[in-house]
Amino acid sequence: MEIGGIGAVVTGGGSGLGVATARALAARGASVCIVDLGRSKGAEVAAALGGRSFFAEADVASADAMSAAIDAAVDRFSEIRVAVNCAGIGLAAKILDKDARPLDLGRFSKCVEVNLVGTFNVIRLAAARMVRNEPDAGGERGVIVNTASIAAFEGQVGQAAYAASKGGVVAMTLPVARELARDGIRCVTIAPGLFRTPMLEGLPAPALEALGRSVPFPARLGEPAEYAALACHIVENAMLNGEVIRLDGAIRMQPR
Ligand SMILES: NC(=O)c1ccc[n+]([C@@H]2O[C@H](COP(=O)([O-])OP(=O)(O)OC[C@H]3O[C@@H](n4cnc5c(N)ncnc54)[C@H](O)[C@@H]3O)[C@@H](O)[C@H]2O)c1
Repeated sequence: MEIGGIGAVVTGGGSGLGVATARALAARGASVCIVDLGRSKGAEVAAALGGRSFFAEADVASADAMSAAIDAAVDRFSEIRVAVNCAGIGLAAKILDKDARPLDLGRFSKCVEVNLVGTFNVIRLAAARMVRNEPDAGGERGVIVNTASIAAFEGQVGQAAYAASKGGVVAMTLPVARELARDGIRCVTIAPGLFRTPMLEGLPAPALEALGRSVPFPARLGEPAEYAALACHIVENAMLNGEVIRLDGAIRMQPR
């Protein structure tokens, strides 16, 4: 699918991988609806993109708020052809704390709610609009890009909730692609390794450097622009469908 002139929705577009993706899509001529929480930098990011790009405040896990955001994007752009799911939260919490007290169930649920249910919420609402698009010359009506994590495959100690949420995103990629294939809508998931974003930048600098050195090659953290480049390639390459692509410099996480 050609990116120039299309309408796109990028969730989590106020920070990290989402900002880089929104910028990359806009630089190739797309109009972007940035969906993020009210406390995010989504409005600033959207204003800097210019053109018809705009910010829609919504929690991706809310059926009503997300539906309103997709409606606003279709009103503004007349249609949406790309949806990139970057909104997500991390959770580092062991099942049992040092006093053997079990993890609060609400914290587990919240992680799954945002990362997995939120991603599916965007998929279902975006697909409902994409099916109405005229197919392009290649028969495509839409492309959905999700963000999992290598924690879906090698979750570390303390990542049971995060790994479960991302494992769900990995698992639904193929059935989503299979179901939407007849409508000319593709679905591909990126599983990033370690990227330099606010999510990781909360760690102390020496820990960040050590993480970067632990990547086989290149021995550094990934840059958000490298994620964005893959997201754009997925949109442009019609043969990519139903697949999960690791973007990780060959790192395989250790147990802790
Ligand atoms: N940075 C990494 O190394 C890394 C690695 C693997 C996977 N990921 C995944 O990539 C995605 C983007 O991560 P990032 O590093 O850019 O993080 P980030 O914290 O910089 O950005 C995440 C954005 O999502 C938004 N968000 C959070 N909850 C939301 C909700 N309920 N509704 C709407 N927006 C919400 C936040 O406000 C923020 O703007 C996440 O899904 C994350 O799990 C990141």
